Amino acid sequence: MDRIRIVGGNELNGRIPISGAKNAALPLMIAALLTDDTLTLENVPHLADVEQLTRILGNHGVDYSVNGRRESQQEGYSRTINLSARNIVDTTAPYDLVSKMRASFWVIGPLIARMREARVSLPGGCAIGTRPVDLFIDGLQALGAELDVDRGYIIASAPKGLVGNRYVFPKVSVGATHVLMMAASLARGETVLENAAREPEVVNLADCLNKMGARIEGAGTSTIVIQGVEGLSGARHRVIPDRIETGTYAMAVAMTGGDVLLEGARTDLLETALSVLSDAGAEISTEQRGIRVKRNGNGIKPVDVTTEPFPGFPTDLQAQFMGLMTMAQGRSQITETIFENRFMHVQELARLGAHISLSGQTATVDGVATLKGAQVMATDLRASVSLVIAGLAAEGETTVNRVYHLDRGFERLEEKLSGCGAVIERISA
Ligand code: EPZ
Repeated sequence: MDRIRIVGGNELNGRIPISGAKNAALPLMIAALLTDDTLTLENVPHLADVEQLTRILGNHGVDYSVNGRRESQQEGYSRTINLSARNIVDTTAPYDLVSKMRASFWVIGPLIARMREARVSLPGGCAIGTRPVDLFIDGLQALGAELDVDRGYIIASAPKGLVGNRYVFPKVSVGATHVLMMAASLARGETVLENAAREPEVVNLADCLNKMGARIEGAGTSTIVIQGVEGLSGARHRVIPDRIETGTYAMAVAMTGGDVLLEGARTDLLETALSVLSDAGAEISTEQRGIRVKRNGNGIKPVDVTTEPFPGFPTDLQAQFMGLMTMAQGRSQITETIFENRFMHVQELARLGAHISLSGQTATVDGVATLKGAQVMATDLRASVSLVIAGLAAEGETTVNRVYHLDRGFERLEEKLSGCGAVIERISA
């Protein structure tokens, strides 16, 4: 298994191109199942999760191709891909594929809407929590689907097609919002989704569906109204820049010091996280080409944070922010409200010398003057990257094991960081 070796203590200076967002690319790729035309997606990051989703879509009969070479070797590494679901050959998403990546469960929405049937494995729990699928089931039932659970699979059918309805999410869910928006696009009549997720990835998907001929209004607010249409066509659409990658590198600079331009990053996608970072002492400015993050000399100030659905502070930046707070000048409290078990990084940050205590969903972090490099590992993507950024600021050598987690969500992490002066390399097993 590959490892990442870091020798900490260097400032980051230079530019980092921000890739297309993993969490926008995945639902956009799944939307290809809604049409028998070709969906072309630009700025798709080259990541293990994207590759895994092409295998899952391939199993349903989707043709996949990559346009030419990388868009620009200078400006990032994301690619343009074409997906064509002209012939859906199988409406089953099997356990061995769905269990590798939870988002593949989302195929249930387009399959039931277009094919009127789907058999999709339940994804099971994962490292960050139990992550149930009750909202998907309730929501699709509200649109008239019949759903049964049989031997670990959801068997869904809607022989006469889905019918629009009003559905109030009892809890904000990004995935269930994506799925109901896709399903309702091909339902008969009007669907109103209330308490919908407002994440930028939902807006990116709605914009794409509208280009494909859907009639969706209100994405980005908590009420989304969808007028069902008979069919959708192909389109060409661009994946938004990755706000979590942006926030991660911004926190890395805040931690190591230095001056980095995050090229292609968009301030409007992460205003809360950027304002927390400036409270912590980073200088953030918006430039034409992206977001500049600087920290010179002054120490890191402690800031309390609670994760919330968008536009609140994102759970996907909680681990990285905790990494930053381990070196703050004082005590901070970080509360996780989205997932019940998203603190796996705590014990590993402690191996680097961090002082963190946990009580329920709140971590209390007492900043230390220095971290010291060590061997660490993590069981999820964002936890792993928090160890990388802590390692960049720690004295001496840090080795991060289980790099495959990083490969799921960070495109060319070592290249981007070493391009700014970090000493970081991948050691292949
Ligand atoms: C998306 O997951 C992201 N994944 C996650 O990013 C992100 O952490 C999460 O949204 C929250 O922002 C992708 O976009 C691929 P949810 P999702 O449904 O859609 C509960 C990363 O590191 N819930 O918004 O699966 C759920 O258990 C990943 O890139 C139910 O109770 O998250 C959680 O507590 C990790 N029942 C809360 O809602 C349901 O039926 C929010 O989850 C569905 C969800």
